[in-house]
Amino acid sequence: MQREMELEIGDRINDLVVNGPAPATTGFTELDPAVYTDPERHAQEMAAIGGSPVAALASSELAAPGDFVTTTLAGVPVIVTRDRSGDVHAMRNVCAHRGATVETRASGSARIFSCGFHAWSYDLDGSLRSVSDPSLFSTEPCTQGLRTLGCEERHGIIWVTPDADAESRPIADWLGPEVDRMFTELGLGEMVHFAATEYDLGCNWKLLTDGFMEIYHLKYLHRDSIAPYFPANMTTIGDFGDHFGGWLPKNRFLKELAERPREQWEVLRHLTGAFILVPGTVVQWQAGHVELFSLRPHPTDPTRTIARLTMMVPADRIDETELWQRNWERVCVTIPDEDFAAAVEVQANIDAGAVDTLRIGANEHGIARHIEAVTRVSVARREPALS
Ligand code: FES
Ligand SMILES: [Fe+2]
Repeated sequence: MQREMELEIGDRINDLVVNGPAPATTGFTELDPAVYTDPERHAQEMAAIGGSPVAALASSELAAPGDFVTTTLAGVPVIVTRDRSGDVHAMRNVCAHRGATVETRASGSARIFSCGFHAWSYDLDGSLRSVSDPSLFSTEPCTQGLRTLGCEERHGIIWVTPDADAESRPIADWLGPEVDRMFTELGLGEMVHFAATEYDLGCNWKLLTDGFMEIYHLKYLHRDSIAPYFPANMTTIGDFGDHFGGWLPKNRFLKELAERPREQWEVLRHLTGAFILVPGTVVQWQAGHVELFSLRPHPTDPTRTIARLTMMVPADRIDETELWQRNWERVCVTIPDEDFAAAVEVQANIDAGAVDTLRIGANEHGIARHIEAVTRVSVARREPALS
């Protein structure tokens, strides 16, 4: 199965090599920089992110029963846990009594959660375990636990829907059959966390996804880092429902195409693939490991975003520490110093009122399509609430 998918991808890249990247057949489009600053638009996007699955962490980060992590997703304080039977749960990290934060540690292992304010306690699935001094508190029993959130483990990632009132969709449905199949074939489910870090960035979250939606910048912005490994302007990026994805060959793959017959092509180890899941998650395949970008916009400030970057590697190759460490160090230089820095620079110029319009080329059209998809998802999320 994986071999079939590899050859399909190889054929598409071969077409691209034979025919060359398509020249522009349309003019450039103008984009209003307000898409990166408008508070009303931002509020709608936040509602869409709250109502969609967010990549909270790698499954392997909650390795043992009782493991938990606390975080903030779409502005909602969240606890993600693994219970004694191995199932994962997500709850608002907010006490059902009078709203205190229940778990203040960033991560750890717990048998129960106990609120520091009046010691109400909760099980690993968020259900109420005990009320302190119950006879003084009320004549009626209280059963209200923590508000539970949609939570599913799939493809080695724990996905949480931060809005407690949102209808939680199965991840396979949300990804769509093609992306779901791709992630299965790539073996994401057998990958484990190697390292993770967070960046607090002064830019709109979409300026970060824009970097994945075009490769025009690759040979210029990344001239001194990764550009030498890739041919210019070659990508198969396309739409998958509301999501996007595509492959970039490395020079070594072009050599493979030229020198070996189709049945001997080694494909996946010579490619980078990027899957931009709307809204706010990017899964990047890098010739054998995966970089997971979970973009967490500030709830009210459109010009701030936390980007959580996690590197996942095949569980059966976790011991190749030197290789993964080298790759991780490369990621931690290229992405923040080049892509993230460019996004922050553009945002600063927009915030200074110095950008009247942005010009999006035919080769960058993915940026406009991504913004359209975000708008579509945001409107779809708002409409049921209005009816
Ligand atoms: S607010 Fe948590 S026990 Fe009172
Ligand atoms: Fe880039």
